[in-house]
Amino acid sequence: MSGHGHSRFHVAPGGALTGELRVPGDKSISHRAVMLGGVAEGDTRITGLLEGEDVLATVAAFRALGVRISGPEGGALLISGGGFDGLQPPPGPLDLGNSGTSMRLLAGLFSGVAFDTELAGDASLSRRPMRRVTEPLAAMGASIETGAEGTAPLRIHGGVRLHGIDYQLPVPSAQVKSALLLAGLRAKGQTCVTEPAPTRDHTERMLAAFGCPVERRGNRVCVTGGVQLRGCGVDIPADISSAAFFLVGATLAEGSDLLLRHVGWNPTRTGVVEILRLMGADIEALNGRDVGGEPVVDLRVRSAPLRGIDIPEALVPLAIDEFPALFIAAACARGETRLTGAAELRVKESDRIAVMADVLEVLGAEAEPRADGIRIVGGDGFVGGRVSSHGDHRVAMSAAVAALRARDAIVIDDCGPVATSFPGFVEMAAEAGLRVKAQ
Ligand code: S3P
Repeated sequence: MSGHGHSRFHVAPGGALTGELRVPGDKSISHRAVMLGGVAEGDTRITGLLEGEDVLATVAAFRALGVRISGPEGGALLISGGGFDGLQPPPGPLDLGNSGTSMRLLAGLFSGVAFDTELAGDASLSRRPMRRVTEPLAAMGASIETGAEGTAPLRIHGGVRLHGIDYQLPVPSAQVKSALLLAGLRAKGQTCVTEPAPTRDHTERMLAAFGCPVERRGNRVCVTGGVQLRGCGVDIPADISSAAFFLVGATLAEGSDLLLRHVGWNPTRTGVVEILRLMGADIEALNGRDVGGEPVVDLRVRSAPLRGIDIPEALVPLAIDEFPALFIAAACARGETRLTGAAELRVKESDRIAVMADVLEVLGAEAEPRADGIRIVGGDGFVGGRVSSHGDHRVAMSAAVAALRARDAIVIDDCGPVATSFPGFVEMAAEAGLRVKAQ
């Protein structure tokens, strides 16, 4: 999963974001649609699929397991599934590139199949913690070998019998919750997961759409094994995590007025908007509707002055991927912003606390990283400068929108991974008014 085209962004300072746009499909929902379609019986017709490298890695994994898949083309993908029993042993290791969601969820899904699978990833994914999934899966009877540090590659031995467990998640993680629920599809009895705080619930919603209801009581969710999933239609909304760069950019750039169409508005994902609104942002959610079990809205965002806040810890899991963008907003707010309870940011595609603290400093803002968060001293804007994304797509796009409030250009190295979640970012952002060029 390399093939990264542009690896450097050059962003001239200033500008405003205007017009209307629809960012690509939701990454979390796209992965789940492909995975459930891949183990369901019958046809699954997906529209609005994110054609980013991470999701394409999931698609390739199912093709390697013999599942018939046509597309993707223009966001449409047709999966003709034959159920778990239709899966065949892959010819070799499955390369999941940069995609943590693919690796963790597939570890659960493939724990209960009849044959062995090996899940591998790129350098960044091979550094990320996997014991958080392999240990509870082992408690269900799975047999998975990891590297010495509990990292990829994962060697999953098939042909074992899984049984349900009642698991208390030590960290709020939708990936771990989902891995266990997906393993639970093949397990004897009930598999229950209790989360310390609500995390994204796309797996639960989509399992129900495929015919496997999930019981929820408070923070505890359960599935019962042995239900045959049935293929269905899935229409995927635009990704609020990709919209986040535009929400922040339009808020910061004077004269902005931008409409983001058809954005996923699942309450377990809206933390970024809640945090920006607490800081004073002007974001309206319009035309609320339901699309295949997921709420969707259009978001209108206009520029507004921001103030620093103490970010409520309860919002952290609901905005977990949007902190790089939120840090850019905080650096342009009046007063200090403090984030705590966010140690998970250190084990994302990069250590997003350390990397963003460096980026902010290079760009001329004051930030103090902490073990579980960061303190950012707001100011007028950025000086500009040259930074590295450290191979992290969200760091790259966050640094790009910072140029809307910079005095000089911002140059960002190592931007290839933007294609994992937001193919076409440069073109779409330029169309809206960001003075960005890929070099
Ligand atoms: C995801 C869950 C989150 C998030 C990731 C996608 C998912 O990870 O950061 O980008 O699709 O379930 P964690 O579950 O590790 O918090």
